[in-house]
Amino acid sequence: MDSECTILKNDCLKGLYRRIVFDAPGIAGRALPGQFVHVRITPMRDRILRRPFSISDADAEAGTLTLVYKIVGHGTEALAQMRPGESCTILGPQGKPYTLPAEGVRPVLVAGGYGAAATYLLAKRSGEKGVLLLGARSDADLILVEEYEKLGFEVRIATNDGSRGHKGFVTELLEEALTPDRKRCFVYGCGPEPMLLALGKRSMELGAEAELSLDQHMCCGVGACFACVVKVRDDASPDRWRYSRSCKEGPVYNAKEVYYG
Ligand SMILES: Cc1cc2nc3c(=O)[nH]c(=O)nc-3n(C[C@H](O)[C@H](O)[C@H](O)COP(=O)(O)OP(=O)(O)OC[C@H]3O[C@@H](n4cnc5c(N)ncnc54)[C@H](O)[C@@H]3O)c2cc1C
Ligand code: FES
Repeated sequence: MDSECTILKNDCLKGLYRRIVFDAPGIAGRALPGQFVHVRITPMRDRILRRPFSISDADAEAGTLTLVYKIVGHGTEALAQMRPGESCTILGPQGKPYTLPAEGVRPVLVAGGYGAAATYLLAKRSGEKGVLLLGARSDADLILVEEYEKLGFEVRIATNDGSRGHKGFVTELLEEALTPDRKRCFVYGCGPEPMLLALGKRSMELGAEAELSLDQHMCCGVGACFACVVKVRDDASPDRWRYSRSCKEGPVYNAKEVYYG
């Protein structure tokens, strides 16, 4: 469903990251963790493509939808220039959500870059509190740490340059964050593709259930163009793969469904 949504706030979160809040009651009431919206950025009307963003927060009562985005190119630059009172046309909520952890199951969130925005609604809606393993190039790229702590999540950090937390990849923190009984934890990932593929493989090696949000470049966002395909294992023969449209069958996939090549 397409809705015209008014911007209520569009502020700097940290560095190149912005947090935008829309008045979007039709979307906020239906949004589930892991889903995304496809935004037509109004000053870009000459460009036909929309831009996909994960739903970072949705308040059904207030009717608000929150996205956290990083300025990386034309679309996000134009979005950052927009002011409260202006509006965007938003399609959504789209895609397959994360599965919320069952009672007694510890959520282990693993996020890189804007991935921390994508797993935030999951942390908020989860009845069980757990841990966020947050990875970035350096301290300057870490976002939403205090917000997760306020939700009662422990935050463990890894940076490539060692400027904060463990020096190295965030996946190196995984084993220690899992419960000894692997049935008592569930891994959720969002971030750059190499990180997610490493996370999916490692979770399976360690015997933990995992879901990964595989965010591909998108065009239509509704399953019509095949721009967003990812390789998944073929049900008939697990050694073979088929293409899956991540905007429709994803973006969230169980780690066991993903084809690692
Ligand atoms: C399901 C989904 C959820 C997303 N959620 C968020 C989010 O919550 N916050 C956020 O900041 N971004 C998110 N993204 C990425 C976001 O859509 C892109 O950053 C955005 O479309 C870039 O638009 P642009 O016009 O500014 O950049 P462009 O000018 O189109 O491109 C600039 C650079 O960004 C790269 N880029 C474009 N799209 C993607 C993409 N999908 N993944 C990786 N790199 C890309 C391009 O290769 C290029 O290097 C998500 C993407 C998907 C598919
Ligand atoms: S973006 Fe068109 S099929 Fe997914």
